Amino acid sequence: MSRLVINGMKRLKGEASVHGAKNSALPILAATLLSGDESILHNCPDLSDVSGSINILRYLGCDVEFNGGTLVCNSRGLNRNSIPNSLMREMRSSIIFLGALLARTGSASMCFPGGCEIGPRPIDLHLKALSQLGVEINDDHGVFKCYVPNGLSGAKISLSFPSVGATENIMICASVAEGTTVITNAAREPEICDLADYLNSCGANISGAGEGTVVIDGVSTLKGARHTIIPDRIVAATLLACCASTGGRIRLDHLIPSHLGAVLSIYEECGCNVSIQGSSICFDSPQRLTAPKIIRTMPYPGFPTDAQAPVMGMIAKSKGTTLFIENIFENRYLHVGELLRMGANIKVEGKVAVSQGVECLHGAEVDAMDLRGAAALIVAALGAEGRSAVGGIKYLDRGYENIEAVLSNLGGDVKRI
Ligand code: UD1
Repeated sequence: MSRLVINGMKRLKGEASVHGAKNSALPILAATLLSGDESILHNCPDLSDVSGSINILRYLGCDVEFNGGTLVCNSRGLNRNSIPNSLMREMRSSIIFLGALLARTGSASMCFPGGCEIGPRPIDLHLKALSQLGVEINDDHGVFKCYVPNGLSGAKISLSFPSVGATENIMICASVAEGTTVITNAAREPEICDLADYLNSCGANISGAGEGTVVIDGVSTLKGARHTIIPDRIVAATLLACCASTGGRIRLDHLIPSHLGAVLSIYEECGCNVSIQGSSICFDSPQRLTAPKIIRTMPYPGFPTDAQAPVMGMIAKSKGTTLFIENIFENRYLHVGELLRMGANIKVEGKVAVSQGVECLHGAEVDAMDLRGAAALIVAALGAEGRSAVGGIKYLDRGYENIEAVLSNLGGDVKRI
């Protein structure tokens, strides 16, 4: 099992680029099924979750080639409509294949999706919305057997929570439904807009993506498209946290700064200097950070739950106390126990965590248990005195492309062993 070995307290400096967004790439890969044609995706990140999606596409009969950030998927040869458990359990977003398969073939069968264990991750909103679009769903001992008896038809769908995945599943399915679908309380994440942009390039008619109400006028057919995936805002937030943890100064390129609004304001509260120059951020952090008062995770444009863990790793040795309130996932503090091994002072009670900044962290052997928790440990280890060995790197590889090389180029002492 590989580990990242990090000798901390090396001030990060230099420039780094942000790769394409995992959370855009995964739904868009599922959506390539719809056209039965060739789609070309640029800026596609090379991540284990992307490999998981490619495995599903190939299993279903699609031709997929992935080289140097460009992924070509031809879904003409699709010849299956069920996904085996082993492929479904690799990641949460495999559930988006449900909407895509139903839209293309009118039937689909699959089990409950897998993914990081950050709390119960129900799919009730997905299933309810799909049934509103005309899908019949039978739960056969944990296997969902779904079919569309009378064609997909547009509907008014009001989500009780702005679920990212449910919004994506609806948009995909409704793109080729008969008539108009209106989603209210839709998720507003930038990745929703990216999916809408891809689908619209394929010939779909979606408006309002990025706002609370999304309108999808169904069309009869879609064609393939060429699309460039947006930069990964969580990778950007993590690299800035890595820098701030070491009191460093870096420039991040190839990102969309406006996607990071709520995160950047926390970094500024910590005493970091943030200067936006087009698609780059120049970032300068002080020797010791000031603890931000309160961090509440919220749906976009609020503070992203995916940045909670890396930021907690970053402020563990700040000056002062921070109150975290995790409003999105129930079990998203798995990294806290490991941060304590490094000398952090954090207490958790339900969805609340209180971090009392310590003078310094020390290196330790720690194990990640989920993707963003892994990032938290890397961030903390970079700012800790001495050597850390971070296990559970398979989680990190779900969302960060070759992070050891990126951090080494910035002057970090990081090796994979
Ligand atoms: C996506 C992101 C993930 C991010 C999350 C929240 C991808 C591939 N993953 O996950 O990185 O942390 O958004 O920004 O894009 N819920 C239900 N029923 C449902 C669906 C969701 O109760 O049917 C709940 C979830 O348990 C959770 C909340 O809604 O508490 C948000 O989940 P959702 O927005 O759906 O997250 P994902 O799409 O799984």
